[in-house]
Amino acid sequence: MFTATVLLVALRFVAADIPPYIKVCQRNDTNVNKCIMNSIEELRPKMINGIPELDVPGLEPLSLGQIALARGPQGAKLTAVVNDVKVRGPSNFIIEELTSDLDKNRFDFKLLLPKLDFNGKYKMDIQVLLLRLQGRGNITGTFKDYACNVTMKGHKEMRGEDEYLQFDPLKVKLRVGQSSIYLTNLFDGDPVLGPATNRVINENSQVFLQEISPVLERSLGELFREMANKITSKFTYKELFP
Ligand SMILES: *[C@@H]1O[C@H](CO)[C@@H](O)[C@H](O)[C@H]1NC(C)=O
Ligand SMILES: *[C@@H]1O[C@H](CO)[C@@H](O)[C@H](O)[C@H]1NC(C)=O
Ligand SMILES: *[C@@H]1O[C@H](CO)[C@@H](O)[C@H](O)[C@H]1NC(C)=O
Repeated sequence: MFTATVLLVALRFVAADIPPYIKVCQRNDTNVNKCIMNSIEELRPKMINGIPELDVPGLEPLSLGQIALARGPQGAKLTAVVNDVKVRGPSNFIIEELTSDLDKNRFDFKLLLPKLDFNGKYKMDIQVLLLRLQGRGNITGTFKDYACNVTMKGHKEMRGEDEYLQFDPLKVKLRVGQSSIYLTNLFDGDPVLGPATNRVINENSQVFLQEISPVLERSLGELFREMANKITSKFTYKELFP
């Protein structure tokens, strides 16, 4: 009787432990990659705003650190600093491919980011020939069809009697698709210089994207890692991959 009660309590505890929105995958599932992809799909609505009860941060909006540009188009000297960047859209990622190696705790994702909208604040200083222009205002833009390779590698950690999976810093590699950038209030709203500069910036957008991409890769990587680690530190390895 006592044993049965203990067993019942223990069973109920285990059953209550994993919340319904986390779908576990059997280690020996021959289609474990498909299973993990389905689990992520089930979790996607929760990823947008985060999971407060598990302390998991949300993906929207993604905040980027400061982005500094110290190069410019030919013939112009340009320094710019972009701050307070918020990116919307990363939760709409499409998983094109997943390969996993559970023995090595390794997961390789190929993602497509169909559309990212960003906005932030810029401060800019341009010197073209003898002209020196300064400005500050808002920067907005859109990135479309970013291809993204993410490698998640982890290791198991013992805590007491139990094993937990923890991920190391992620490798994120982005390839730029289309992009457009727009700066408001360029040169105090000068009707000629403003549009002209926006045109120059968009014609040279790869210069900007070369600076933005590593910041985006790092921020996405850190956030994905934090989200994953919050979940994998709350449940044992055996609970997540029975
Ligand atoms: C996986 O292992 C469980 C028991 O651990 C077993 O019941 C199940 O049939 C196995 N599935 C496959 C696909 O091997
Ligand atoms: C910049 O955007 C903020 C809102 O994010 C708005 O209040 C402000 O007027 C904008 N400034 C300019 C110069 O467009
Ligand atoms: C992703 O990896 C594949 C090879 O597996 C490679 O062909 C592709 O260029 C990579 N994409 C990016 C964005 O690095």
